[in-house]
Amino acid sequence: MLQNLNFNSCLPANIRFGLNIVKNELLQAIQQANKSKVFIATDAGLVKTGLIDSITTPLIENGIETIIFSDVEPNPTADTVMRGADLYNENSCDMIIAIGGGSSMDFSKAVGVVVTHSGHILEFRREGGKVITNPIPLLFAIPTTVGTGSEVTAVSIVTDKSAGRKCAISSPNLIPKIAFIDPLLTITLPRHIVAATAIDALVHAIEAYTSLRSNPISDGLALQAMRMIIENLPASYAQPDNIEARTQIHLASTIAGMAFTLGGLGLVHYCSHPMSAVYNVPHGVANAILLPHVIEYNLISNHKKFANIARIFNLN
Ligand SMILES: [Fe+2]
Repeated sequence: MLQNLNFNSCLPANIRFGLNIVKNELLQAIQQANKSKVFIATDAGLVKTGLIDSITTPLIENGIETIIFSDVEPNPTADTVMRGADLYNENSCDMIIAIGGGSSMDFSKAVGVVVTHSGHILEFRREGGKVITNPIPLLFAIPTTVGTGSEVTAVSIVTDKSAGRKCAISSPNLIPKIAFIDPLLTITLPRHIVAATAIDALVHAIEAYTSLRSNPISDGLALQAMRMIIENLPASYAQPDNIEARTQIHLASTIAGMAFTLGGLGLVHYCSHPMSAVYNVPHGVANAILLPHVIEYNLISNHKKFANIARIFNLN
């Protein structure tokens, strides 16, 4: 069947991928952009591991000032975003680097919106909110988990705690200008986070592939991401120092992010966001719980595509 052949495809992702790519190219990229006061968005756990120091020290030694905001929580709230924006403005920062998982990257995009527009972040929610008209500050993304794909997407998910829901904020302006994908940054990732975030990436690929908005470009990306995740997730989980497996899974999560940027997501994500907003369930865990039920429900919609997925899993 000819699928959705009327579509727009816009994916201006600038990806720099490789072992030690952050160490080798981040400073130069900041200098080339002529920036000198960097707002670093991350979480307390990454500060504790020393990873943030290892990234910021060479910057500081070369005259780049770094303002670190390390209060980003899982499922970042609108209040945290507004606090981050205050810190950015108080220090007159001129760019943002997100280091961490989806929470740090989504938080950074939202801070970028607040510091370039007037109003509260929740006023910019996708459903009926204000339009994001201005470019956000220069944003680099350095993912340290293996699932979110936020480093190449145009969406930020922010939790509205008082309403008990998650809000999507969306604009092509939110796509990070450069995504630095360095598999070495995932070596110390705890196993349960590898499992949860890689399942998130797998769900991105499955939902992009079976979405009503899917198209031949998103299909190609989604199928490739699924193959890489299925082949490499067991080794990536069991052997933290298996660089090859971590490399494959890290890249697959970025490819899955590109797939769903073009093809869209589905019922797993629409149901998992409320679960995370109300019960603070990690996003990937909520997706894992929902996936079998949604597949069973959706199976009748496209037998051919679900059969292709089954073949990738080596199932009959
Ligand atoms: Fe997701």
